[in-house]
Amino acid sequence: MQRAADLFRAGSKVVGVVPTMGYFHEGHLSLVRLAKQRSDVVITTIFVNPTQFAPHEDFSRYPRDLERDARLAESAGSDILFVPSVEEMYEVPYQTYVEVGGLTSVLEGKARPDHFRGVTTVVAKIFNITKPHVAVFGQKDAQQAAVIRQMTKDMNFDLKIIIAPIVREADGLAMSSRNVYLSPDERKQSVALSASLRRAEAMIAAGERRSLVITGEVMQMIGAQPSAMIDYVSISQNSTLEEVSELRSGMTVLVSLAVRFGPTRLIDNTVVEVR
Ligand code: PAF
Repeated sequence: MQRAADLFRAGSKVVGVVPTMGYFHEGHLSLVRLAKQRSDVVITTIFVNPTQFAPHEDFSRYPRDLERDARLAESAGSDILFVPSVEEMYEVPYQTYVEVGGLTSVLEGKARPDHFRGVTTVVAKIFNITKPHVAVFGQKDAQQAAVIRQMTKDMNFDLKIIIAPIVREADGLAMSSRNVYLSPDERKQSVALSASLRRAEAMIAAGERRSLVITGEVMQMIGAQPSAMIDYVSISQNSTLEEVSELRSGMTVLVSLAVRFGPTRLIDNTVVEVR
C-alpha cells in the first residue's frame, strides 16, 4: 500500500482517505462520496482496530461484512480498499502509541479510557501508510473529529481534515454500525436521542441559556425510555470541549450525549450557534 501511495503522490494526484471500521451504512458512503469530490483517488480503509476497544467492549462481535463493504465502497466512488490485518498493523512487539492530551480527558475519553489513544495511533498509522492530501471523518464522532484535527496539527501531518455531517435514519436516529445490536423495542426507544437534541436546539433558539435546564430536559426525554441508561449529556464549547454552564451569544456549542440500551452504547450530538 505504501508503495502505491507513493506512486499516487508522485503522479500529482490528490489522494483522499476514508478511515473506517467497515460494516457500511449510508453514513460511511457519504464520507466516500465527499472524499471523491475533494480528491482524484479515494482510498477507503477497513480495519476494526483492537487498540480502541476496552477488554469488555464489542471488538470480537463488532459487525463485519467485507464483500458487501467492497461493493458499496466501489459504488460510492472508492478506488482502493485497504484492509490490513491486525498482525500487519500491530507487528509484534508493537510499542508505539500516539496520544492527544486535554481534549481526550472529557466526554467519551472519560467514559472510555484509552479509546482515543487507540484511535489516534491507528489513524496516524493510516495517514503514514496512505499518504493522503485529505482525510474524511464523520461528525457523529464529534470528539474523535476534534482529537484527530488536533493530532494532525500537533504532529504536522501534511493533509486537510474534512468533517462530514451526520447521516440519519428517516426517524432521526444517527446511523451507526452498532444500531444492528438494538432489539426492535430498543430501536423504537432510541429515537429519543435525536428527538431530545432537536428539543435542545429549540430551547436554545427560544432563548434558554442555562445548560442545566437544557441538559435536564434532554435527560428527562431520554430517561422516559424504559431501557435507556444515560452515560452523559453535555454542553461544551465546540472548539475546546470545555463544559459550558451559561450559554452566551456568539458561542458555538456542542450538545452531545451517550446512552446505553442494554449492552449497546449509542452517541449523538448537535452543534448549535447561540444567537
Ligand atoms: O470512526 C471510526 O470508525 C474509527 O474510530 C476510525 C477513525 C476508523 C479509527 O479506527
